[in-house]
Formats: sequence, structure tokens, C-alpha cells
Amino acid sequence: MSGSLEGRVAFITGVARGQGRAHAVRLAREGADIIGIDICEDIPSMNYPCATPQELAETVALVEKEGRRMIGRKADVRDAQAVKAAVDEGVEAFGRIDIVIANAGIIRLGDVQDPVREWQDTIDILLTGTFNTVQAALPTLRAGNRGGSIVITSSSAGLKGTGSDEPSSQAYTAAKRGLVGYMQVLANQYAPEMIRVNTIHPTGVASGMTMNEAMARMMARPDSNMSAMQNALPIEILQPEDIANAVAYLVSDEARFITGTQWALDAGFSVR
Ligand SMILES: NC(=O)c1ccc[n+]([C@@H]2O[C@H](COP(=O)([O-])OP(=O)(O)OC[C@H]3O[C@@H](n4cnc5c(N)ncnc54)[C@H](O)[C@@H]3O)[C@@H](O)[C@H]2O)c1
Repeated sequence: MSGSLEGRVAFITGVARGQGRAHAVRLAREGADIIGIDICEDIPSMNYPCATPQELAETVALVEKEGRRMIGRKADVRDAQAVKAAVDEGVEAFGRIDIVIANAGIIRLGDVQDPVREWQDTIDILLTGTFNTVQAALPTLRAGNRGGSIVITSSSAGLKGTGSDEPSSQAYTAAKRGLVGYMQVLANQYAPEMIRVNTIHPTGVASGMTMNEAMARMMARPDSNMSAMQNALPIEILQPEDIANAVAYLVSDEARFITGTQWALDAGFSVR
């Protein structure tokens, strides 16, 4: 499907590494220019690092290597004005938005220190951050009058809760499930304009969220319930490119009839 997104523009959050970077590079390969943001600094209530400005610059370089343009800016999805400013700059440069991928996300991995803060930051980034992302891009998407595709990154946790006494983990599941409700509202509201809205639900993916010391400590705990993360297929962990390949289809015209769905990208996790 090479070239399937020729001339389109995608806005992606959490774009500096992991799945966000994979989406940027894959969509650029299909012909899209990219507007992307990432917080590029650590969040005090979280116990593994966020991406760095260097990683954001590297994503820009990888997109340019595909022959496409990218505006990559440091912005926190919790900051509606900052998100809007980045989108406005991108639209000024590229003239349109066709695709939105609300991907930025965070979870504290064990070691509860400040339950209320950890709950609130997780909710704010996953839920309100997605709202800010959509709000910033939607007027341009609608004004184009060409339809469009919004992909909201939920999680296998957004389809099936797993027991945890950790506030960030509880908030993660609540927010990822909440995103399904938000997606359904948007899908209904904008279907007449051919703006499609779907959630994706990845199982474990090798990224900054999983490949870190906090995760290693959590998995080593005797009471770890990480076995509940096992997939039906004998695939231990997915790669960001697996998710990006699916998303490249979902945002393309080949998927022009798909809206309002919760797509499990989970190696059979949810069928177990
Ligand atoms: N890795 C997994 O196992 C997994 C599984 C299911 C769903 N997800 C979801 O996939 C999405 C992408 O995560 P990933 O796996 O690539 O992990 P990741 O940690 O590598 O990437 C997340 C990116 O979001 C950025 N970010 C965090 N908070 C932000 C904020 N407030 N504003 C802007 N950017 C922010 C980080 O700096 C980072 O670059 C997340 O929504 C995550 O919840 C991940």
C-alpha cells in the first residue's frame, strides 16, 4: 500500500519514541507529512523516563529520511494551549490535517508514593490529553471537508481490567476504557462528515513504557501478576512497527468504511 497517504497530513502525540515514532515513520513512508508533539521531559509522579528532545529530533530525521516533512514540537498534552499552538504551526506550514493519532500515554509501574497525584496525572494525560489533542485538530479536519481519520490509542487494559491496588494502574484502565466512550461519541457525531474515529487496543509493546528498570523491578516481584499479560499467540511482546502497520491501514482509504470500532491489536490477549 505504499503511497496510500500521498499529500495527507497527520498529527501525532507522543511522537518522540515508541509507537508514536513508528506511526510517524510509517505514515511518512505512505506519503504523509507529520505534525508531532512530545512532552520531552520527565513527569515527577512517574517512575520511568519520558522521551528526550534528542529522541524527538531523531524522529524528525527519520521522517525526513522517508522524503517527507515534519514539524516536531515539545508540548504536554495536558496543556491545551501548547497543543493548539503546535497544531496551528503545523497547519500554517502544511495547510491541512487528515489524520489524528492520540497516542501519548503514561503509567506508574509499581512503587506507589503519592496515590492521588499518580491517579490524577494518569487520568489527565490519557483522558484529558486525548480531548485536548482532538480539540486542537478537529476544526482543521472538519474545515477540509474531505473526511478524515482519528485513531485513539487505548490498550488491552481498555477492553479487560486486571486486578491491581496501584492507583496509576487503576486510572490507566479507567482512562483507557473511558477513551472507548469518547471515541463512540465522536464516531457518531462526525460520521456524516466522513470523519472516522476508532480506538486501538495493543497488548504489550516493546517501547519506553515497558523496556525500563521500573518494569523490570515490577516483573521480578514475587506477587507480580504480569503472567496475566500473556498473549494467546506465542508472541511475547509486539513491536511498535506492528501497531504502526495496522494503523497505516486504519487511516487509509481502504478502511473508509471502518468507524466506531475497538480494534484489539493484541496477539489474542483478549480472547484468552
Ligand atoms: N507499551 C505497551 O505495552 C502499551 C500497550 C498498550 C497501549 N499502550 C499505549 O500506547 C501509547 C504509546 O506508548 P508507547 O508504548 O509507545 O510508550 P512510550 O513511553 O515509549 O511512548 C509514550 C510517549 O508519550 C510521551 N508522553 C508522555 N506523556 C506525555 C504528555 N503529557 N504530553 C506529550 N507527550 C507525552 C512520552 O514522552 C513518550 O515519548 C500510550 O498511550 C500507551 O498507553 C502501550
